[in-house]
Amino acid sequence: MKLLKHILLLFPLFSFSQELITNIPNRETTSLNGKWNYIVDQYETGYYSFHQDAFDQQKGLQKSAYYSNYHAQNKQELVEYDFDKSPTMTIPGDWNSQKENLFYYEGTVWFKKSFDYDLKENKRLFVYFGAVNYKAEVYLNGIKLGVHEGGFTPFNFEVSSIIKDKDNFLVVKVDDTRRKEAVPTTNTDWFNYGGITRDVLLIEEPKTYIQDYFIQLKKGDKNTISGFVIINNFDKSAEFVTVKIPELKINYKGKIDFDGKVSFEIINKKIQYWSPESPKLYDVSVEYNNQILKDNIGFRTIETSDAKVVLNGKPVFLRGISIHEENDKGGRAKSETDAVRLLTWAKELGCNYVRLAHYPHNENMVRLADKIGLMVWEEIPVYWTVDFTSLDTYKNAENQLVEMITRDKNRCSTIIWSIANETPISDVRNAFIGNLAIKARSLDNARLISAALLTKSNGLDSFVDDAIAENLDIVAFNEYLGWYGGNLVDAEKIQWTSKYNKPVVVSEFGGGAKQGLHGEKMDRWTEEFQEYLYIQNLKMIDKIPNISGISPWILVDFRSPRRLLPEIQDGYNRKGLISNEGNKKKAFFVLKDFYEKKSKRFTPKSASK
Ligand code: GCU
Repeated sequence: MKLLKHILLLFPLFSFSQELITNIPNRETTSLNGKWNYIVDQYETGYYSFHQDAFDQQKGLQKSAYYSNYHAQNKQELVEYDFDKSPTMTIPGDWNSQKENLFYYEGTVWFKKSFDYDLKENKRLFVYFGAVNYKAEVYLNGIKLGVHEGGFTPFNFEVSSIIKDKDNFLVVKVDDTRRKEAVPTTNTDWFNYGGITRDVLLIEEPKTYIQDYFIQLKKGDKNTISGFVIINNFDKSAEFVTVKIPELKINYKGKIDFDGKVSFEIINKKIQYWSPESPKLYDVSVEYNNQILKDNIGFRTIETSDAKVVLNGKPVFLRGISIHEENDKGGRAKSETDAVRLLTWAKELGCNYVRLAHYPHNENMVRLADKIGLMVWEEIPVYWTVDFTSLDTYKNAENQLVEMITRDKNRCSTIIWSIANETPISDVRNAFIGNLAIKARSLDNARLISAALLTKSNGLDSFVDDAIAENLDIVAFNEYLGWYGGNLVDAEKIQWTSKYNKPVVVSEFGGGAKQGLHGEKMDRWTEEFQEYLYIQNLKMIDKIPNISGISPWILVDFRSPRRLLPEIQDGYNRKGLISNEGNKKKAFFVLKDFYEKKSKRFTPKSASK
């Protein structure tokens, strides 16, 4: 644990993302989605000179990366690129699934979008990216705006002082090369889709504007709505912020502190609580000066008590499924349509909960979960063997955690922040993860913190023995009885123990099946095998002490460069209950039946008074 103190001492616990603008869907935005020109720059010619000096490191901003500048004015100058004559691709969208010749490409691609913009007096302008995988270097009109690392969280830059009425030249260098020191590291079991994978928007705001706010129930108090509002560039032009929830007759007026923040606690005993069965969302508006920012927010309590997960005071069993962010074209999912496709299947299964693996999914997913009633496990990609010894890696992981929580802290459907998946145990790893747990709680003390742990077994005895469980509210683990070991016939004899008196969630179990391949129940890769594997695992899991939920692996077959068995996998991980063509396998109905019985049998008793 001394390492943890060590990391703690090294830098202060940051607050929410300093500049990230939230609640984008309800703001004044102009979309830059659509056709962008792109240049595949395998040797990063646009970024480094022939002696590998980075153009950006040279003096002054005018030396930004080569491709970020306007075309040369005088014809004598040697220019060996031309965006306007380069091909285009649709943004948002990964390049792998859009361009066959880029399917396996991993490296740098430059993107360019030209646009006009008439920025009115006394207004500010920001360029916002929903996500870019993996590293983005952004330039506007030859000026470098900044760099963002992390493939699944949003970021924005202010461009008020450099935007022009005509012919703005927005250039993004995207590099999706996997690296040892990155988060995730080089080794994952999912496809590394590169590109500008989520919306690109221009956000217009007043000189001083509502940047962010947090409006949820106070921890442990179902009658108090608490939170804050952050005003950017607070100039005392107006002293008060108003938070309105008309249906609850709330019209709260709060005085803004010198630092532009208003914190509040509003008591109200008429709240109709959000739940999967009754996903009540309230119309909320945050008002400041002449700005009115609307949102739809639900209120619920989530806690653990007596080693159970307790929602609105009642123990709940998390009937879940794990989901990767992939669409029906075998690319990165991004749209509301993609979210409807995935979460409708989850509802059809009888789920009240989903694990969005292994990275923050696009905002459509969590907003839809709010609307249709699915509790959500969100996760940062601290996956397998990230470099736990590197402070830069830690800061990167923490920044992705901060951006995920900043973006989704008002989504009541999110009940769990997950900070790791199957990370090998070591002192530095324990310090790294332990610090992330402290960080998450410092930002949001009401949601539950978890991580998908590995387990140990000795014959028919299986158990969790992982020190970071001390830092977690829920002990979650992945087990693969019958797929990566163990014998399905022994399922009911296996005894699980956990030395932590905390709720247990089996965050993964499952096995592969090629949809449409049939045989005997012990024939690996057949639907019958997967069906039997689910039957046996569910029998075993149902007996685990403090079992409070499951999220089997996985809803839909997904692309993975690790899964190469010809005629069976062909580049897909086949553990889906549904094939990537959208056809259900027999095991889908085993889980659906289990959840039907569970939702009846699990008559939530009220938690200890
Ligand atoms: C692991 C891992 C998943 C992976 C799965 C599998 O538990 O968490 O990301 O896809 O097992 O092997 O299919």
